[in-house]
Amino acid sequence: MNPLEVNVGSVTLKSPVILASGTCNFGRELSEYYDLSVLGGLSSKGLTIKPRQGNEGCRVAECASGMLNSVGLQNPGVDYFIEHELDYMRSLDTGVIVNVAGHSFEDYCDMVRKLDPYREKIDALEINLSCPNVKEGCMSIGSEPSQVKRIVSALRELTDLPLWIKLTPNVTDITAPAKAAQEGGADAIVLINTLLGMRINIKTRRPVVQNNTGGYSGPAVMPVAIRMVSECSRVLDIPIVGCGGIMTAEDVIEFMIAGASAVEVGTASLIHPEAGLKITNDLKQYCEDNNIELRSLTGTLELW
Ligand code: FUM
Repeated sequence: MNPLEVNVGSVTLKSPVILASGTCNFGRELSEYYDLSVLGGLSSKGLTIKPRQGNEGCRVAECASGMLNSVGLQNPGVDYFIEHELDYMRSLDTGVIVNVAGHSFEDYCDMVRKLDPYREKIDALEINLSCPNVKEGCMSIGSEPSQVKRIVSALRELTDLPLWIKLTPNVTDITAPAKAAQEGGADAIVLINTLLGMRINIKTRRPVVQNNTGGYSGPAVMPVAIRMVSECSRVLDIPIVGCGGIMTAEDVIEFMIAGASAVEVGTASLIHPEAGLKITNDLKQYCEDNNIELRSLTGTLELW
């Protein structure tokens, strides 16, 4: 048996390592660096009904131990994706996770109606209730548990595809939207998306990114993500995909001990394009050295 194989509900992945939405586009660029079939999956860039150019002006700022992004969901639109990118993603011989974004309740429903007919090519829909860089939808829905439940329940009626709900950490109690997602019929939750932040250019006294704020990601956010995975794993019955600042195989192991069944690696690929490959190889070595199947680690945390 492959010691890296994990399940996220009904979805079997050959490795817990998925590349996070927005850091691998649809796989074409990173496939020039390594064979992406070693991965558990790829999560597409967040897609919307209509194509989007994204936010104006400067969209990224470097920070100590991470970065701020305010891309604004630049994407070619779901129709283009279905016509030109979905078959390519499927051909990569890895899990295909489609990240679904929207500005309204209706947008999310329309997106799922469009994608459901292609269910043979998709392993899971990752419902993005967490992008902090658009004025409507996404994070504003995901930070309100009643809206999370309403939207997930509606999407549950529209598809049998696994629904993974990607949550925002910009809330006081992460277990509230997580439980709401589960009550709505989610198959898994993904956490965390980025932390809302700001950087200021001290010469111009203006924010560095033109949207004023952006989402903070990178190794500095990992302790926040680990805490949230651990809190949610104690109250949920559905699996968790952990995300936030993963740079190494040891980080993956920490997420799994906290309660994650799989993980998403994001900012690391922007620093080292081959990060997904290195982490996977190091996980294999860990399993060999410890004679262990990785899945046995999930939720083994013992609190003091
Ligand atoms: O701005 C963006 O496109 C970010 C998306 C996300 O965080 O999901």
